[in-house]
Amino acid sequence: MPGTLALNDGSRLPALGFGLYKVPIEQTAEVTLAGIDAGYRLVDGARFYGNERELGEAIRSSGRRDDLMVASKFWGDPVQSREQAIADFADSERELGVGPLDLYIIHWPRSSRGAFVDVWRGLIELQQEGRVRTIGVANFEPDDLHRLVDETGVAPALNQVESHPWLPQHELRALHARLGIVTQAWSPLGRGRLLDDPTLLAVAAKHSVTVAQVVLRWHLQLGGAAVVKSTHPERLRQNLDLDDVALDDDDMAVIAGMESGERTGTHPRDRQ
Ligand code: A2P
Repeated sequence: MPGTLALNDGSRLPALGFGLYKVPIEQTAEVTLAGIDAGYRLVDGARFYGNERELGEAIRSSGRRDDLMVASKFWGDPVQSREQAIADFADSERELGVGPLDLYIIHWPRSSRGAFVDVWRGLIELQQEGRVRTIGVANFEPDDLHRLVDETGVAPALNQVESHPWLPQHELRALHARLGIVTQAWSPLGRGRLLDDPTLLAVAAKHSVTVAQVVLRWHLQLGGAAVVKSTHPERLRQNLDLDDVALDDDDMAVIAGMESGERTGTHPRDRQ
């Protein structure tokens, strides 16, 4: 079972969480319960995913609320402002109905609007008031992170960005390390498109594991975190079963050679 990573606010983040993006509403309860049952302790939700009500119901019925880190994200469209972030936070909390959220994230910087620092001040306020333990961002580029830190003095606990062997995000990871920010990958399997890659299939065969296990273990060995999505209970379990998948230096070098810069999702500058 993957462990936890220290965050800059003194709390800890389960290195592997399960994501609710693209989990259909009608499957949300079943998938959430399967995820909690498999051992996930981080639930990565968002207002935009449209399934917070069902997610909250499942968490309540699991009886495991106190064991879980529950996350939501501020969408920021049409309005991106401090006030809107605080209002949306309260809406997500109401919709989920599981008590105070553990983690709240700015979903996209939308940098051309010039408002994310204001939004970040709203999240800092929520944290200072004790309404949320951990605050973070997603899809922030190096310049965006510098602005946040320069203008508020508060670095996010984590930056959730697209990352996988095609897109290892070296520059961001190095900056995160300097600023004390955890790198948390979304689409850690490249939306599943990496699963039939011949290089990864060879590494997986060498260790008698699956490609998904190789790639998730690669994320952990880089020192990062990830949120992975599956609607299949067996895969949810498999994706946590990484203790015996130790990748050696050769494996890491072979995987490093896969870098192409290819994205499977939206580039942050294209989401304004
Ligand atoms: P499914 O939900 O049908 O299991 P990413 O997290 O990179 O976005 O990738 C998610 C995709 O990978 C989903 O389509 C999911 O499909 C699939 N997936 C997740 N885990 C596994 C696994 N262990 N084996 C095969 N496919 C997986």
